[in-house]
Amino acid sequence: MDTMAKRITTLTADRSVKRLLIVTSEVMEWNRSMISDLKENLIEEGFDSVVFDGVEPNPTTDNIEQGKTLYKAEWCDGIIALGGGSPIDASKVIADETNASLLITIPTTSGTGSEISPWSVITATDSNTKMSMCTRIPDLALLDPQLTITMPPALTLFTGIDAFSHAVEAYASTRSNGFTDGLSLESIQLILKSFSIAVKDGGDINARTDMLEASLLAGAAMMHAGLGLAHAMANTIGGFYHGSVHGWLIAQTLEAVCDFNRNAFPDKYRRIEPIVKDVMNQVGQMFEILGLTRDVLEKAHFNSIVEMSMANINSATNPRAFTREDLEKLLNSCFEWK
Ligand SMILES: [Fe+2]
Repeated sequence: MDTMAKRITTLTADRSVKRLLIVTSEVMEWNRSMISDLKENLIEEGFDSVVFDGVEPNPTTDNIEQGKTLYKAEWCDGIIALGGGSPIDASKVIADETNASLLITIPTTSGTGSEISPWSVITATDSNTKMSMCTRIPDLALLDPQLTITMPPALTLFTGIDAFSHAVEAYASTRSNGFTDGLSLESIQLILKSFSIAVKDGGDINARTDMLEASLLAGAAMMHAGLGLAHAMANTIGGFYHGSVHGWLIAQTLEAVCDFNRNAFPDKYRRIEPIVKDVMNQVGQMFEILGLTRDVLEKAHFNSIVEMSMANINSATNPRAFTREDLEKLLNSCFEWK
């Protein structure tokens, strides 16, 4: 963390940044010491800081307003996001809407790749709609696998499957190209090699390094190529059920979407399908060990979820054209409805 603070000093040499808002999630045991370490190291480098730890999983427009209010009330002039995809997504919108001079992202999970992209997924509090927003590109992303070591197994699993799905969906996207394919394929290989090791032995720094790199590569592929129906469905459902876990929703949709899309890009799917099956088998076993069961969704939401999934930005880059009936079948096969 002290090296990171020094790097921040170098970056801010020609900017008048003195007081930073540290945006993070509700402080959990496993990242509490990271926040105090960061604050201390920032003080040593001459920065003052204030912590906003109110970002929820699936960050909301209310969270954004709270962060903006604190930023202005405390006279901050820059932002550091510390944590997983939720605080990083929230920080980009807060930075954009407050014209912050500086935005630095420090991921402590290996999942979203959000640390380098301008995209944020924010839930509108009043309508339960998840919005994909193009906001602020971070000025600097600082990645250190040591910061991911204390991630609990379940979170490692959920974030790892998310990174894997970004690589797989970006690889098959209608906007994929040679550049994004290279990023996706390297990410897929790293995850195949190190995913289950990182879940079972969180202290394995080599596995943690592979997963953090894989997440970054997949995030870069996603930023340029877009995603597909697994994310269109998962992001829509995540808007309806605030406590839902994005990676868990993705785990329930990814294989079915790959089956549905197979004929759209037969050569590509032939190349990655054995790996997708292998990784998803590992994921299934890990879910069993952790005692996770399938989500049960409410039938009353079904039609809205179909319509909103069709309109979701990720549907536009799905490799196979689809009808409303196709989507209904996918939703019925991936989730239980009561
Ligand atoms: Fe995702």
